[in-house]
Amino acid sequence: MDILILKTGLMGLLIRFIIKHPDIMESKLFLKAMAVFPSKISKSYDDKIAEIGEDYQAALEKGLPRIRKNPRRILDLCTGTGFAAFAASDHFPDATIEAIDQSKEMIRIAMQKASAKNKDAIQFKIGNSTALQYNDNTFDLMITSNAPVYLSEAARVLKPGGLILIAYSFSGPSFVKAAKHISRYLAKDGLTLLEIKNVRKGAYILGRK
Ligand SMILES: C[S@@+](CC[C@H](N)C(=O)[O-])C[C@H]1O[C@@H](n2cnc3c(N)ncnc32)[C@H](O)[C@@H]1O
Repeated sequence: MDILILKTGLMGLLIRFIIKHPDIMESKLFLKAMAVFPSKISKSYDDKIAEIGEDYQAALEKGLPRIRKNPRRILDLCTGTGFAAFAASDHFPDATIEAIDQSKEMIRIAMQKASAKNKDAIQFKIGNSTALQYNDNTFDLMITSNAPVYLSEAARVLKPGGLILIAYSFSGPSFVKAAKHISRYLAKDGLTLLEIKNVRKGAYILGRK
């Protein structure tokens, strides 16, 4: 348990640093770490989510009902073992959901879970959020949770008027404090900040193209 607190504390520190320096997500070192590290933690990932419990889910679960119009086509970026894709599927049972992650180990676990839960509406695929294999203006809603966000690609494949929901389970107050900064960051890619809200330890950010 102490190790978990230490790890979530470190995650909080990392998130706070990235909020102030978002360009770090494009750096070679960060991209390399993201290409290697997730595969190493994939097997124990869902156990960690379960240990963290309600704090992990709260921000995304509060954010999803803020999307008033039912989206037909949803993309979950950096899906990992599918946490946000499954939550979106429960919330929007009629939507088609595509969910990508560059870690094949994470995707393999997500696919096993989809099959066990009979979630045919979710397609899990290996993919890179920095170079999406989709046409411009394809999705009604983009979601992502606890992951780096590559806004220019996300904005490109989002339909005009489409929504983006970004959720983090940690460092909620830091996101709220940085609202102006986040608003400017979204605006660079033609996105408007609609709402940013602290939920338990985390926060959700809702934007529109
Ligand atoms: C902390 S996990 C979060 C997983 C899931 N969204 C959740 O909330 O549980 C971050 C995930 O982002 C993925 N990721 C990081 N950079 C990526 C990129 N450029 N393209 C695709 N996936 C990426 C990692 O492989 C990892 O599975």
